[in-house]
Amino acid sequence: MSREVLYEVDRLTKVFSTGFFRTTRIYALNNVSFNVREGEILSIVGESGSGKSTLLKVLLKALKPTSGRVLYRGVPLERWDNRSTGRRSRPSSRTPTLRSTPSTELTGRS
Ligand SMILES: Nc1ncnc2c1ncn2[C@@H]1O[C@H](COP(=O)(O)OP(=O)(O)OP(=O)(O)O)[C@@H](O)[C@H]1O
Ligand SMILES: [Mg+2]
Repeated sequence: MSREVLYEVDRLTKVFSTGFFRTTRIYALNNVSFNVREGEILSIVGESGSGKSTLLKVLLKALKPTSGRVLYRGVPLERWDNRSTGRRSRPSSRTPTLRSTPSTELTGRS
């Protein structure tokens, strides 16, 4: 039995630039790749500042990655519609999953 790949994370990098006169570049994520299949539990462990929250923000579309790619259910994250996260807009029957977002799918609120 092969379980569907939910998240496909491919060489994800997120760089933050801080400072005005002297700009510092922080690599919050540097070439992160992994897959998560349906039913799997993945623990993300690391010291403070190692990028755990940044990674989850990218996976839930709250942050855009600097480079790299994320697929959710085989579809690029940018094609998932952020606007239909509320209960009011019911997904249409034609493309039900794409009218939702990974975050609402995972929490069952769509
Ligand atoms: N909006 C931001 N602007 C600039 N730097 C940021 C921003 N968000 C995170 N960072 C930096 O990116 C790095 C990763 O931060 P992140 O919050 O993802 O770490 P974390 O693993 O969640 O840490 P903690 O365990 O303390 O929650 C840190 O160096 C942090 O200072
Ligand atoms: Mg955190």
